[in-house]
Amino acid sequence: MIPGFLSLLLFGLCVGQRDIRRAESFPRPSIHAWPSSMVPANSNVTVRCSTTTREVNFRDIKFALKGGRNVMESSPSSDSPEGLVEFYLSGVKTSDAGEYTCEYRTGRPTRRSPPSDVLLLLVTGNFPKPSLKVHQRGEVTAGENVILQCQKPRHVIQPHMFALLKKGTSTPIKLQRAVGMETDFSLPSVTVSDTGAYSCVYYQPRAPFYASEPSDHLMILVTDSPGATSTDYTMGNLIRLCLSAVIMVLMVAFLVEACWSQKWSQCGSSNEDPIIVEELKQVPQLPVETMGT
Ligand SMILES: *[C@@H]1O[C@H](CO)[C@@H](O)[C@H](O)[C@H]1NC(C)=O
Repeated sequence: MIPGFLSLLLFGLCVGQRDIRRAESFPRPSIHAWPSSMVPANSNVTVRCSTTTREVNFRDIKFALKGGRNVMESSPSSDSPEGLVEFYLSGVKTSDAGEYTCEYRTGRPTRRSPPSDVLLLLVTGNFPKPSLKVHQRGEVTAGENVILQCQKPRHVIQPHMFALLKKGTSTPIKLQRAVGMETDFSLPSVTVSDTGAYSCVYYQPRAPFYASEPSDHLMILVTDSPGATSTDYTMGNLIRLCLSAVIMVLMVAFLVEACWSQKWSQCGSSNEDPIIVEELKQVPQLPVETMGT
């Protein structure tokens, strides 16, 4: 009895381990919120989960989204060529805020993927807005380090995290712990693409995940540095050089073809030499004439 039981147990362990190993070979799904993972109350948010695995038939996959009070399940629609599902959260409330992950499962016996990265969904508006300031004055030049300081109102004393947001970007640019009432977000060596409208919020990183109103937008305008411009010119010159080289090659090809159709005898030797000589004679005469007049 006991050896039988032991071998059964061992067998079970082995099978279990193989299943775990197999599950690990599924890639983690990715998770994404649209239009943003930080939204005002009553907004509609779409959470998109997807996988790139080619190992399974997407019609047999079932995705699960877990977070807040929600557990939702969905399969990719039959006309979708990708392993992708969208979960709609409409009219979100503070109680929907929290850490979301998605995973998928498929097959018989069922195999599961590892969970995705954690998506922090925050519903803003539980605390008064912070203020966002930039240390630089006026325009910012590409290559500079920009410090954006986000500061809570004086009377909000609970510990918080800060998030830096950029308009048009669906996830926070940076998350950072507070140092006292404020935090400095550093954008090292900015480029023109960092131009945009920034705001910040402070929030509780644990349940109930309360988040403040976003700060007013702060516009950062990054202008190109002279160094960057000259590289652009070099690039333009390179393109021009290549183009002229291509044209040269084409012209030579045309010439060769023309010569070929007229036969080599006429082309290379007798006829051309006198023309060259004439040209050589004409060239020195030109300056003489202009100097005379
Ligand atoms: C959210 O979606 C509902 C329909 O599902 C719509 O009536 C409502 O206006 C939407 N809310 C926002 C803020 O877009």
